[in-house]
Amino acid sequence: MPTISRRTLLKSAAVLGTYGAGLAAMPRLSQALASTPIGLEASIADTMLDGKQPTRNVMRYALSGEATADPSPPILRVKRGETFRAKLINRLDEPTTVHWHGIRLPNAQDGVPFVSQPYVYPGDSYDYAFAPPDAGTFWYHPHCNTLTQMGRGLTGMMVVEDDADPVFDAELALNLRDFRLGSDGQFIAPFKPRDAAKTGTFGTLRTANWTPEPVYDVPAGGLVRLRILASDVTRIYNLRLSGADAEIIAIDGHPVPSRMPLDMTVVAPGQRLDLALRIADQEGAVMALEDVRPSTPKTVARLRAVGSSLKRDLRDLGPLAENAGVDIDVKTATQIPLLLSATAENTARDSICGSIGFSFWAINKVPYPGDTPDPTAPIAELKLGQSYILNVENVTPHAHPIHLHGMNFKAIASNKREVPPLVSDTFLVLPDEKVQLALVADNPGDWVFHCHIIEHQKTGMTGYFRVT
Ligand code: C2O
Ligand code: CU
Repeated sequence: MPTISRRTLLKSAAVLGTYGAGLAAMPRLSQALASTPIGLEASIADTMLDGKQPTRNVMRYALSGEATADPSPPILRVKRGETFRAKLINRLDEPTTVHWHGIRLPNAQDGVPFVSQPYVYPGDSYDYAFAPPDAGTFWYHPHCNTLTQMGRGLTGMMVVEDDADPVFDAELALNLRDFRLGSDGQFIAPFKPRDAAKTGTFGTLRTANWTPEPVYDVPAGGLVRLRILASDVTRIYNLRLSGADAEIIAIDGHPVPSRMPLDMTVVAPGQRLDLALRIADQEGAVMALEDVRPSTPKTVARLRAVGSSLKRDLRDLGPLAENAGVDIDVKTATQIPLLLSATAENTARDSICGSIGFSFWAINKVPYPGDTPDPTAPIAELKLGQSYILNVENVTPHAHPIHLHGMNFKAIASNKREVPPLVSDTFLVLPDEKVQLALVADNPGDWVFHCHIIEHQKTGMTGYFRVT
């Protein structure tokens, strides 16, 4: 392990750091501790979600040995380039795995049953280790019985830090998601087939950090880094913030080339948005983060200015440390057609990691059969180090946030809009859109590619690339 201590594993849904002191107050682990794996336990517990009654059978991630009443998953913190080690301990009553969404890592650490690792059965554990090459906001979730396991609570944030990142007065992380509960506060069926064949089935209780409309104190006049994750299985957000200046500094973990104001910004399932906020000067001023999709604004979270104004200026903030780009060789790049379509209804094969029993969607006309030891052939076989352009064509009337494991891509063209050339792992393909995603096949292994509306993923809109 490289030198000295590092900041890691902060369990918090609240504002980090003391005002004016940056992030200095965060706990540190010694070098010896840092090389020991953390225990990441998946378990089941009754949990208060709607503020009225406990919900039974909520699934929860927690750190081994950690006593906390907070039901939201721990925010895992690691430094760029340092090895992160986690022992997944399965205390559920069904198999699970962990996928580290957006992190470029060795294939065996990727968490996809049959494609990259065996199931982790109840009572068993699995050791993950990887050194994230990119800094930014990422996340983790199961890749087994995913609609249920994510729907019931297994969606946590992972923050990869860089020493050269600008210092904020405070940092706040918001993990946005719904729970699908009946009026008695208990889970209801995770989906309706009719909706799975359209936009996906929406939850009934909106939360940020497992709390409906939470309020967080932030330093008046201060600069705050807001890390937002859309970890919901279905909902696409359209975000705005009233009462503070908000600039987008990173999308899907990667710094934007120039900051832009937050303005009805779309964040689809799987995506992240990092904002720099300049909080109002007036103590007690309240700012509302709102979702305006489809129309009536809904409050996602509120921020309240506290203390006397720090009188900071967004222009004081230096740039984020850069991540690697995606530099394809256009002349030699191979084009790969990827048709996103509906498929004739039929039944998916049953599988231990949960088929949801229908098939509605397909990639290149092939509906994925589910997690089986003999999945379909890869969508394409890619040569290590070669450049590719994925020509994604959405011939459905629904938007699909399509996600690639293991490698980053860069959007280079669309038939519908200007696409900024951003590096990412998840791209929201609009209805009837044709988009070109460029990538260099720089990571060997089998890497799945799927829609992150989990009902779409689980009813056929999945495939994988083989890089050798
Ligand atoms: Cu976050 Cu395979 O996904
Ligand atoms: Cu989809």
